[in-house]
Formats: sequence, C-alpha cells, structure tokens
Amino acid sequence: MKPQNRKLWIACGIMALLACAWPDAPSFAQSLRLAATPPMGWNDWYQYQCRVSDAIVRANVDVLVSSGMRDVGYKYVNIDDCWQGKRDAQGFIHPNSRFPDMKALADYIHSKGLKFGLYSSPGPRTCTNFEGSYQHEKQDAETYAKWGVDFLKYDWCSAGKVYRPDQMQAAYRKMHEALESTGRPIVFSLCQYGLEGVWSWGASVGGNMWRTTDDIGGDFNRVSLFGFMQNGLGKYAGPGHWNDPDILQIGLGRLNHNEELTQMSLWCLLAAPLLAGNNLTKMSNDTLKILTNPEVIALDQDPKGIEGHRAWQEGPLEVWVKPLSGDSMAVGLFNRSESPLPVTVRFKAIGMKDNVRVRDLWEWKDLGRFHGHYTAQVPRHGVVLLKLQ
Ligand code: GLA
Repeated sequence: MKPQNRKLWIACGIMALLACAWPDAPSFAQSLRLAATPPMGWNDWYQYQCRVSDAIVRANVDVLVSSGMRDVGYKYVNIDDCWQGKRDAQGFIHPNSRFPDMKALADYIHSKGLKFGLYSSPGPRTCTNFEGSYQHEKQDAETYAKWGVDFLKYDWCSAGKVYRPDQMQAAYRKMHEALESTGRPIVFSLCQYGLEGVWSWGASVGGNMWRTTDDIGGDFNRVSLFGFMQNGLGKYAGPGHWNDPDILQIGLGRLNHNEELTQMSLWCLLAAPLLAGNNLTKMSNDTLKILTNPEVIALDQDPKGIEGHRAWQEGPLEVWVKPLSGDSMAVGLFNRSESPLPVTVRFKAIGMKDNVRVRDLWEWKDLGRFHGHYTAQVPRHGVVLLKLQ
C-alpha cells in the first residue's frame, strides 16, 4: 500500500472508532466545514441594542458590501437580542414589528453574498426579556432553517432559572442537535460568559465558538483586561471551534486609534472571531482601514488556526506570538502603560532562527533583516504588529 493510502486508511479507522465510542459527538467534518477559520462578520448589539430593525440591518448590509468589508471576509450579518415577537398557537416564534419579514431580510442578505445570523437563549427569556427557546428548541431550529439562518448565538440569560449549572452542557447540546436535525449548516455560537470553563467542553456540545468572557463593552481598561486575559486558552481552540472574547469595539467611540489597533491586533493573534460592532453607515476611514487591513486579517484567518499566546511580559509591556503557516510567526509588541516605551522581541526566545526578516503589518513596510532581536518604540496603549520570516 502506498504510504499516502495507508495514512488515509488510518485516518478513516480513527474516525470510525470515534464515531462508535462517542456517537453524540458533533461531526468533526461538519464543524470544520462551518468554521474552518474564525467566523467574521457584523453584530448589531453594541451600536443599536433594542433599537435594531430590518431597515438598520439592511443599511449596514449595504455598507458591508460597498466598503469592501465583505470581500476581506466579514460575511455573517448577526442580529442579536430584541428581534423576537410572540409565539403563535402552535408555539412557533415570530419576529416583532421591527422585523416585518425575516425570510425576506435573510434573502436580501444572501443576495449580497453574505450570511444571516440570529440570536436566542436556552432559557425562557432572553437577556432583555424577549422570548427564549426553552422547551421550543426543535421548533425554533426549524423556523431558523426555514428563514435561512446560517449562524445562531445562544445566550444563557434566564436559563439559570430553569437549569442547574451541571445541566448547562445538555442545554447547549439540545439546541445543537435541533439545529443539526434541520440539515442546514448553522454556526453555533455559545454565549454564557465563560462560565463552567466552557472552553473545555464547548466543542463537545457542538459549539463552533464560545464566549470566554463577560460582555466586553467599555473603555480600553475593559477591552485590554479581557483581551490579555485570554492567555492559556489556546489549547482549546482550532479549526471548527474557537475561543470568543466578544465583539470588536472598533469604531464605537470608546477607544482611541492606538487602542483600536491593540484590540484588532490582539484579536487576530488570538484567532478570535472578528465581529465588527459599529455603525457601518457612519464609519470613518480610519475605522474601515483598521477593520480591513488584509495582512492583519490574514493572521486571524491563517489556516493552521493556532491561537497565539504571551511569550514575554514585563509589567505593562507584553510580547505575543502566533505561529503561522509557512514557518512564519506573527508577533505583537504591546505597551499597556501610560507613556511610549521600547519593547523588544528576542528571536531565539520565541523559537525562531537568529536571522529574521521583519515586516510591520500596520505600516505595510518591510523593515529588513535583523539578528538576535528587534526593538520598537510602542505608543501608549498601542502595539507594533510584525510578521517574522
Ligand atoms: C448578553 C450577551 C451580549 C448581548 C446581550 C443581549 O449580555 O452577553 O453579548 O447578546 O446579552 O441582550
């Protein structure tokens, strides 16, 4: 037998064994197909909360296309909380009056080459007290599939009133199975704020991504606290299933330019889902540039799917690294202090050879070859993001 055939047979054997030993396991091939790289898109929550409407979503969809965001990968259009109306006599959910025709909205989104996301809760009510999916999981999944939903964020909210913490996994698995039984591929996004160490079981209940933190909305202190706290979770993430430190705060007005670069760089080093959260119709050129730098997005979307980690820290200065395909390495030099400071990366300490080519990914500049180390002056709350080869 040729060596490549032997490998194929061994792989098939392992998969068959896994299927016997763990029949409920979400299909590996399915989750890979759904989220081979971290999902990218837009979510309305931080900008619109319960004011979100069909017209608002369409307006943002149009800009996803005209701005070029779709073409660099932002393809999921995710409606968060507050779309739900009442259930009918048979128990099927209907949208509220701000969404007159959900199927027509989904068709519009699909007609633009984008994908459609919705939101619900395993509890009886969502976090803002709209209808949740409790005891309607199968019906809701059928409705979503009928509308053409491609992504579901499933938010714990009131579920704590009807489930014990040790029933949390079963509650998520129940919706995963309901989604799977529709036959429609739907990315399953767990949202329970990192409770119960979700990273260690999120994939086993069918999650393609799971929130690792509480809601991130806030200033730089909160964004950096949550972002830099992700260190160590990398071993739980990979193609098909990702740690999710929440929506990007870029363009929402609470971060300055350098702070926005820090969030974008760190999220890409973390291989985090990239969900823009701003009003795209009023986005500045600077926001658009930060969200769409193709070389930075390429780090996030690297096919190896390795989540980066902190390689060095001294007080507020941190060096984060993310191994990439093709033997290169992404490196973020971060300065969380209140004044500009130099930060150094030592090549051997991060497993590279002594002689390295360095490119600055925000400046779009090849900096040349360096021996042993590279040092950059990093602005307050800022970052220098490099690719080393
Ligand atoms: C929770 C989630 C947020 C958002 C709101 C909506 O707080 O963590 O991301 O979905 O609910 O009510």
